[in-house]
Amino acid sequence: MSEKIKNVIAIDGPAASGKSTIAQLVAEKMKAYYISTGNMYRAIAYKILENNIKAESAEEETFEKVLSNIKLDFKKDSDDNLIMILNGKPLGQEIRKPEVANIVSYVAKSPAVRKWLLDKQRSLTHLGLIVIEGRDIGTVVFPDAKFKFFLTASPTVRAKRRLKQDGENASDATVETVSKAIAQRDKIDSNRKIAPLKQADDAVLVDSSNMNKNEVVEYIVSKINT
Ligand code: DC
Repeated sequence: MSEKIKNVIAIDGPAASGKSTIAQLVAEKMKAYYISTGNMYRAIAYKILENNIKAESAEEETFEKVLSNIKLDFKKDSDDNLIMILNGKPLGQEIRKPEVANIVSYVAKSPAVRKWLLDKQRSLTHLGLIVIEGRDIGTVVFPDAKFKFFLTASPTVRAKRRLKQDGENASDATVETVSKAIAQRDKIDSNRKIAPLKQADDAVLVDSSNMNKNEVVEYIVSKINT
């Protein structure tokens, strides 16, 4: 059996399952760096939009061309948190806009995009202990991570949580419309050929539908510490 990577805590799960909130809290507790790979895909989707490219029908060469003009780095801020820098500019709420959310699944289907980000994601272990969340962290990015969790919740709970999260909710969004958009994104993420959304065989399943965030964090931290 291959050696387990001890400085990676992988958290995967579907859209709006609470991964980012939970992963950030776990990172705080474990004194680890927090990394959202979804935000990395969103950063590329943001560039695709900026270039007026239709992600749904874009060719691989088009994605490759955009990637060749992207520089994506992480810097530590004064609180020692990581901030993502896209072509020299720190990224903020712009990547959470509905326009970005609506196309990001199509961007994440591109083999060129996934390969480009995979190398970047793997290189992040040089930081030390990391909590890294996404869809394929336990299966593809770090299959040898010692700590793997698959976080989920019912579709309605997830839609309600996403509505609360700032940015992504347009003013006319409802639980129904958000729930539909989430289901559509899950479908694309789960059915794509490369690195689909899937629980790793050795990941701990956490269904947070009836748990508050502190309970989820305590549970995950207790599993890490045993
Ligand atoms: O976690 P999120 O909703 O911000 O992710 C945005 C999109 O990126 C989502 O459609 C799935 C995709 N993604 C992925 O394919 N692989 C990852 N490791 C993380 C996100």
